[in-house]
Amino acid sequence: MTDQLQVFNTPQEMRAFSAAARAAGKRLAFVPTMGALHAGHLSLLDYARPLCDLLVVSIFVNPLQFDRQDDLDHYPRTWEADRRLCAGHGADVIYAPTPASIYPEGFLTKVSVANMTEGLCGAHRPGHFDGVTTVVLKLFNAVQPHLAAFGEKDFQQLSVISRMARDLDLDVRVVGRPTVREADGLAMSSRNARLSPAERAKALCLWRALSRARSLADAGQREAAALAAAARAEIEAVPEARLEYLEIVDAENLEPLATLDRPARLCLAVWIGNTRLIDNLALN
Ligand code: PAJ
Repeated sequence: MTDQLQVFNTPQEMRAFSAAARAAGKRLAFVPTMGALHAGHLSLLDYARPLCDLLVVSIFVNPLQFDRQDDLDHYPRTWEADRRLCAGHGADVIYAPTPASIYPEGFLTKVSVANMTEGLCGAHRPGHFDGVTTVVLKLFNAVQPHLAAFGEKDFQQLSVISRMARDLDLDVRVVGRPTVREADGLAMSSRNARLSPAERAKALCLWRALSRARSLADAGQREAAALAAAARAEIEAVPEARLEYLEIVDAENLEPLATLDRPARLCLAVWIGNTRLIDNLALN
């Protein structure tokens, strides 16, 4: 395939490109990823493409945000397929920095958002969100985007990055986009590839839990405890599923919510065998 896709491997090369593009009046949109691209990632490219002159996708498996070595070691790396998908969905640039160019010898700085990173995934993955915010700020600094698109699939991540952008006066519009699901409701994730066919069937309990809570909320149930109990029962009905957390939080600040008197989000993390899956849904 002949395409115009350019690849940069260091922050310096990426930034030189963006600086020139900005000086020429171009509008840049950015989709950060860790590769192993699927329809969820591609929905972000498709969203951003018509909003910009130049679409940049980053592919960087960020060691700083992995709290388990095993998860980092098994993270899928599918460069050729990713490259084709980026070209097919209109990307102009892939920014694929080397780990050494992002974290050179003697790297000492981290970016940390307080409070919002303490609950939900943050309570179970020490250091994870500091790793995310640190790398995302570094990616923003190299790409210098006007707009950056993130998935609601990782709702706490989206909230934390939005907060970082506001708190640090970043000149980038952070946009959240809906979760893309398989036909049966399972949220698309690079980690789904690790599920055996039997585990794949069990994994549907996440969607059943979210759907059950939503239908009760739609029918008028306002008590978070009752909604959470109904959702939890769907996970507990599957013996092979291990619930890590299930919480209903304020969709703005991620604080636990007792009554649905404002926009709320049901968030959960479940282990199916050795695979950790997360999902969430708005309850209004
Ligand atoms: P990654 O897991 O590769 O996800 C990249 C982006 O795709 C994130 O914004 C994520 O929320 C979004 N995404 C993943 N699955 C999705 C789905 N089913 N529907 C819609 N969007 C989906 O998230 C990361 O990488 C990293 O933490 C990163 C932000 C790149 C920092 O390292």
